[in-house]
Amino acid sequence: MNAVLRHARRLERMTIAHLDAVMAIESEAYPFPWTRGNFIDSLASGYPAQVLFDSDQRGLVIGYFVAMEGVDEMHLLNLTVAPEAQSQGHGRFLLDALLDLCRQRHAVQLWLEVRQSNPRARALYQRYGFRDIGVRRGYYPAAAGRREDAMVMSLDVSGGAA
Ligand SMILES: CC(C)(COP(=O)(O)OP(=O)(O)OC[C@H]1O[C@@H](n2cnc3c(N)ncnc32)[C@H](O)[C@@H]1OP(=O)(O)O)[C@@H](O)C(=O)NCCC(=O)NCCS
Repeated sequence: MNAVLRHARRLERMTIAHLDAVMAIESEAYPFPWTRGNFIDSLASGYPAQVLFDSDQRGLVIGYFVAMEGVDEMHLLNLTVAPEAQSQGHGRFLLDALLDLCRQRHAVQLWLEVRQSNPRARALYQRYGFRDIGVRRGYYPAAAGRREDAMVMSLDVSGGAA
């Protein structure tokens, strides 16, 4: 992908109309995907959620995030890039958009959970300065009816000294 096209990526606020495309990515990207109902509930609750469109003429949805706003904080609930579009900087682009939103809303902390078995996502978050805060035991469903722990990570987004 050349630099000109890459700059043409665009974000839109997620709506119900995007959910067919979002669900197609979600079910490809995760062994235990969110349900359509999870997205509908998030939108109905007014959670900040954006979809990322491909830069080329096809205008495909290639990623998205969903977050939940609290008092002085933001909680990242879902950050996903379509498998065929991964490793091209789209994850960082989405995270940058979320950080912009945090600044607009004057959030102080950005929180997230990530599977312990997801080194790629953890590397991305560590690169942004997220710190491991703790572990939520058995937070995620896993194969064979088991559960997997989540790492809780947080980033100071107040703009002040860390
Ligand atoms: C995690 C995810 C959002 C990253 O999006 P992406 O578009 O692939 O990532 P980017 O191309 O922006 O790269 C961001 C960072 O991810 C890591 N990364 C990307 N591709 C990687 C690869 N092939 N191997 C290892 N790490 C990789 C690197 O740390 C990279 O930082 P760098 O470019 O400074 O080296 C994406 O891989 C994804 O949707 N995965 C499945 C769903 C998921 O795990 N979501 C997060 C749940 S908490």
